[in-house]
Formats: sequence, structure tokens, C-alpha cells
Amino acid sequence: MAKTNLEALKQKISTFPRKDLIHRPTPLRRLDRLTKELGGPEIWIKRDDLTGLAFGGNKSRKLEFIIPDALSQGTDTIITWASVQSNWCMQTATAARRVGLRPILLLFKTSDQAADYDGNLLLDFILGADIRIREAEKGKIVSEEYVQEVLEEVVDEVKKSGHKPYVVSVGGSMPGWSMDKPLGAIAYAEAFVEMLDQTRSADARITHVIHATGSGATQAGLIVGAKAAHDRTQVIGISVSEGKGMLVPIVQKICLDTEKALTIDLGIEPSDIIVLDEYVKEGYGIINKETAEAIRMLFTTEGIVLDPVYTGKAMAALIDLVRKDYFRKDQGLLFFHTGGTPALFPYREALVKLLGGELSR
Ligand SMILES: Cc1ncc(COP(=O)(O)O)c(C=O)c1O
Repeated sequence: MAKTNLEALKQKISTFPRKDLIHRPTPLRRLDRLTKELGGPEIWIKRDDLTGLAFGGNKSRKLEFIIPDALSQGTDTIITWASVQSNWCMQTATAARRVGLRPILLLFKTSDQAADYDGNLLLDFILGADIRIREAEKGKIVSEEYVQEVLEEVVDEVKKSGHKPYVVSVGGSMPGWSMDKPLGAIAYAEAFVEMLDQTRSADARITHVIHATGSGATQAGLIVGAKAAHDRTQVIGISVSEGKGMLVPIVQKICLDTEKALTIDLGIEPSDIIVLDEYVKEGYGIINKETAEAIRMLFTTEGIVLDPVYTGKAMAALIDLVRKDYFRKDQGLLFFHTGGTPALFPYREALVKLLGGELSR
């Protein structure tokens, strides 16, 4: 029965236009040394950091569906926004270049770090993206009103110069502006299906998926994928920015939009959406000792690199939850590595300090 549901979901997703941008399926692997180190349930990883577009990540899956939408609207310029070291913006600029579109990036200074050409910002620069940097409140995601104001100016300017902009919201998550369907979440419903095919053939008994959640589409897509496939895996989103009071309704809204776009009725409710917000700690983009140690632990046990803003925080949460016996030992965890590794380098000073080293100059 579950197979039929899975096939039906695959068929529905296949009706959406797609541009091949990534290597699929991304690898699945058991993390034997990490599992042993933590002494808890079996831990697996799905390597969406290896999608193969620039440095990889969850955004390249989303862009496989967003780029054809932009092209179908006859656009020549893609505009989006996020913070200075945004993975989303870099991936969008990369995908835009691959299909011959001009990227304009509105980058908000949401952390104290200097906006140096480093990490994702260096890649944006090499890509020749039109980069506009703006001041913003630190440790927070920029408010919608502020974005709206700045964005309208840029859209006006592009139109006046005779170009056709396609505006897509941060993370490719919320429908609005030029994108009227939750294409990012549809990509992650498909990622769940891909994962299920892999875990079934590897005989991996996964009970929980753990991943970093920010603008919500990755989590919404995974939840829709699980529900539509009648699979009971619990998806746990580790918030890197917002409290769950704010994030759960966002994820639910994207789930409902995704159900509508896929013409399925799953009746997803807030109780189906698990967001843990206690690992945001000092704020969005602010690294702490637990995150630095989690990055070191996965690197030293498994040779896999995480980032300080998203996957490092999510792994710190996974480690803490295992240590606190949140899971039973006979359960199985899958960590979705959602990418973001270029942002490791701009955090070098904080990382070295938190890990007890000294920078020599
Ligand atoms: C590396 C990484 N992981 C996870 C996320 C969160 O994904 P979403 O915005 O779909 O919640 C992001 C979003 O920017 C990201 O860059």
C-alpha cells in the first residue's frame, strides 16, 4: 500500500517542470564512528551537501524547480535576498548563471561580521552577481516590511532599465512575488521520497529525520513527503533563527500550499510539525561552543564538514538529544546534511577561539 502512495507522489511531482542541476540521488551513509562515540541509536546521513551545484546544499534541489518557473515567465534577471553569507543567495546566483540569467542579491548585514569577500560572498563576487549590501538588526532574520521597501526600489530600477525581473523569496520557501507555488517544498517532498527509496534498499530503519530549519520549505517538503507516502518517520526541524511559535505556522502554511499544488489532502496540523528552538541560543548566525564542538566531532569521526550557521547547530542538537536519551536505542536517526559549508571560513576566528586554539598572524 505504502508503495502505491509513494509512486503516486512521484508521479505528481514529475508533472512539475525541472531543470537538471544536481547529482541525484545524493549519497546515504551510516555514521558508524559517530554512532559509537555517542552510544545511542544508529545514525545515518543524507548528503545533500553533495548536490554538486557550486558547493552543494538544499537550495540547489529547490532551484531545479524554481529556475524553470523563472524561465517560463520570460525573465532575464533573478532577484532574491537574505543575509550576507547566505547559501541560498549564492546557490541562486549560481543556478541563474548556469541558465544565462542575471542575479541580483540583496544581502542584509544580520551579524557583526565584516562583509568581506569570503565564503559565500566571495563566490557571489566571482559569479559577477549584482550585490547590494544593506544594514540590518544583528542575530535576527530581516523583517518583511524592511525587505519589501528595499526590494521594491530594486524591482523598479530593473524594470525601468528594460529588464524583466523574477523575484523569489528568501530560501525559495514562501510562495509570493513571482513564484506562486511552493516549489522549494515540492523539491523536498521529492527528497523524502528519494531518501525512503534509499533507506529501504539499505535496510536502514529510520524513525527520525533531523535537519536545520530556517525559512521552512525543507521541513514542510519532508513532512509532506512522509505523510503522502504514509510513512511514520518523524521530521524534527532544528530552528537556527526563529522561535517555534513563529516557525510552526510558517511550516504549516507551506505544507498546506504544497498539498494544494500537488492536489493531495493530508490534513497536516501543527501537531505534525516538530520544531525545536532551544538550539538557536545566541541568535541566527551566532556560533557557540556546542556548535563548534559538533563541527569538530563529525569531522574527526566521519570526515564530513558542517557549517556554523545551519548544519553545525542541527548536529549540536542531535548530539545533545542523543545524550539526553530523547531517542530510544532501537530507533534510527537520519541527519539531513543541507550544505552551507562555504560559510565555515568566514567564521575562522570564532571557531579557533571556541575550539581552544590561537590564530597566529
Ligand atoms: C545550509 C542550510 N541548511 C538548512 C537551511 C534551512 O532550509 P529552509 O530555509 O528550507 O528551512 C538553509 C537555509 O538557508 C541552509 O542554507
